Amino acid sequence: MRNINKDNITASVTQTFEKIDDARLRYLIERLVSHVHGYARETGLSHAEWQAALAFLLRSGEISSPSRSEFTLLSDVLGLSSLVDLLASRPGATEGSVLGPFHTRGSPWMESGANLVKDNPGRPVLLRGRVTDTQGQPIASATVDFWQNADNGLYWQIDTTQPQDNLRCQIKVLADGSFELLTIQPTPYKVPTDGPVGDLLRVAHRDAWRPAHFHVIVEAPGYRTLVTELFNQADPYVSQDAVFGVRESLVMDFKPESDPAVLAKYQLSGSYQVVDFPVTLAATA
Ligand code: BEZ
Ligand code: FE
Repeated sequence: MRNINKDNITASVTQTFEKIDDARLRYLIERLVSHVHGYARETGLSHAEWQAALAFLLRSGEISSPSRSEFTLLSDVLGLSSLVDLLASRPGATEGSVLGPFHTRGSPWMESGANLVKDNPGRPVLLRGRVTDTQGQPIASATVDFWQNADNGLYWQIDTTQPQDNLRCQIKVLADGSFELLTIQPTPYKVPTDGPVGDLLRVAHRDAWRPAHFHVIVEAPGYRTLVTELFNQADPYVSQDAVFGVRESLVMDFKPESDPAVLAKYQLSGSYQVVDFPVTLAATA
């Protein structure tokens, strides 16, 4: 076209993508063009603002590395990561929540009843779960991938003082779908603020804190994989998560308990807290 104007430009651009073979990809690109153009029209985007946005994206790329994605963090603080999780949730199944940047495949396999505390300071927490389908039937083939931060707020990957694989494991559930592990109470954590996303949070007077959380991925053949987090209802940041991961159903009571059998089993001297986590997986369609 040689007569491009502000009224026909969106259709003209969209048309150039019509030969994308994959129908879903074609649709996604068409909608992207439409929404990006709509944003510019609606806001009356100026040259200076457009250049500032491109400079922001350039800085996001420059600060990213194989172990840090500023774009993922941007998606997180814009609530996009959480919206995608919410759109993927299925009725009757446990709600999903943010994967975060500190999951790496290959955690050590342990038996149900694993003790992850080792030399970690912090209050002991017994996490007890049971994995069922939406009819309440146990899923004996389920596996649980668990990870969390240490008492200093850091994950083992970025804290050289922690042993490798600290506070993470994979567990095969028992025949009745149950599993348990002893760990420590997780710690509130600040998302990185030394990049452009930090600038965005500061200009908005927003907090970088995430409430303390356990991460879990629960998988079983024939079921949709659940990626989620568990929060402590007593956490000071549970109502202001920087990445919008908190759902009421994932906010748990960390109940103080001192069952002598548990104290003996895990060689604990004082009391501990218990978190009961019923996990429901939806079948794949
Ligand atoms: C986390 O779960 O630790 C996390 C999630 C999103 C951004 C940064 C950290
Ligand atoms: Fe996390």
